[in-house]
Amino acid sequence: MIKAVRGTRDLLPPDTDLWNRVESKVREVFARYNYHEIRTPVFEDTQLFSRSVGEETDIVSKEMFTWEDKARAQSEKAQSLALRPENTAGVVRAYIEHGLDKKGALQKLYYIGPQFRRERPQKGRYRQFYQIGAEIIGPPSAGSESPARDAEVLEMLATLLDEVGLRDWQLQLNSVGCAEDRARYNKALREALQPVVHQMCADCQRRAETNPLRVLDCKHPEDQPIIENLPKIGEYLDEPCREHFAAVRAMLDAVGVAYSINQRMVRGLDYYTRTTFEFTHGGLGAQSAVLGGGRYDGLSESLDGPKAPGIGFAIGEDRLILALQSQGEQPVATVQAFIAPLGAGLNSHALKLARELRRAGVSADLGDENFRLKKSFEAAEKAGAQFIVIVGENEVAAGQFAVKNLASGEQVQVPRAQLAEYLRK
Ligand code: HAM
Repeated sequence: MIKAVRGTRDLLPPDTDLWNRVESKVREVFARYNYHEIRTPVFEDTQLFSRSVGEETDIVSKEMFTWEDKARAQSEKAQSLALRPENTAGVVRAYIEHGLDKKGALQKLYYIGPQFRRERPQKGRYRQFYQIGAEIIGPPSAGSESPARDAEVLEMLATLLDEVGLRDWQLQLNSVGCAEDRARYNKALREALQPVVHQMCADCQRRAETNPLRVLDCKHPEDQPIIENLPKIGEYLDEPCREHFAAVRAMLDAVGVAYSINQRMVRGLDYYTRTTFEFTHGGLGAQSAVLGGGRYDGLSESLDGPKAPGIGFAIGEDRLILALQSQGEQPVATVQAFIAPLGAGLNSHALKLARELRRAGVSADLGDENFRLKKSFEAAEKAGAQFIVIVGENEVAAGQFAVKNLASGEQVQVPRAQLAEYLRK
């Protein structure tokens, strides 16, 4: 038997009803904040990710699904392609490719779609997973660099999580400074690591040389005491970065969005500058980050684009759903009416009635004339119907139907013309 590949999974009803409810809600929230949807391809040139997410990150160095794509015609060239491990790089590529900077306004773009990382699968961690994300990007003249953007994004996230019904989330906030701050911080990290790095894991030993910031991502328990004692990024921010971060915090305080500062949170992607953040939830176990994001002021330039500061986030939709389920959110599939034809030749009458009701906005399921009454009732229960509508010879002739409320057992006769309204109540 062929099974779904390790780290991938099928999403089935009734869970998909919860997924759809979440997605409709977030689309509604995005619209209220004037975001519009962007859809980028699920695979891209591998270089897009090595040049943005970063060569030394776990994502690029270990987790990407890449392959050599052979040329199929003389006009094509062979190239290395990758399934997207995240969507920010694709959005910024599209921003540059379509000259969206020329519009002069802020681009507020959102996406919902699958991402791919070859991680070790566990609860909340899959090789194909879904992200709901958004990016605000534009020329500095449009206000893209302002701390007001950071605060607006974080306030929207607080509202969005509240409105999808997630309780007890926590916002962790940090600033990783600008490129110059990070150069100074990396130097300080290198110096601090030098006497101790030989006690650390092989990855840390390599990274201490190539990209010391990534040492902070290390998950090895034995390395943690050393990491705790390393210098903190906050001490290396220059004055403009300090002020930017202070302004973000002041606005969050003003609107009443609670947060805590976590100076170790440097995020596992290289493009971040200044504000970085994660929202966590207690119901998720080890993979507690429901979402992550931050500012990426130099990303467009590093992909040969114009100056286009930006900030964004991605929610792990799989994790958001798990967190909602951990709170007892149980999706139940329901349909308003089950139409039960009773006796030979009544299928087409039942279909006609179902058509009328469905066109009038009632959700309806259809039985079969071969079902006896008992089987029709069982089928209605299994379908999750609220009402069963019996369609027999007499009912069709009289133009009124026996309607039974399956929860209360109450049964009434309803004229055809009033049926849709009755069922919608
Ligand atoms: P990220 O932190 O790598 O950031 O991923 C964002 C979220 O995606 C995580 O917090 C987590 O909920 C979810 N996620 C990541 N990997 C997996 C996995 N293997 N299985 C299930 N869920 C996962 C980014 O991807 C950035 N592009 C976010 C961003 C947008 N920054 C700025 N704009």
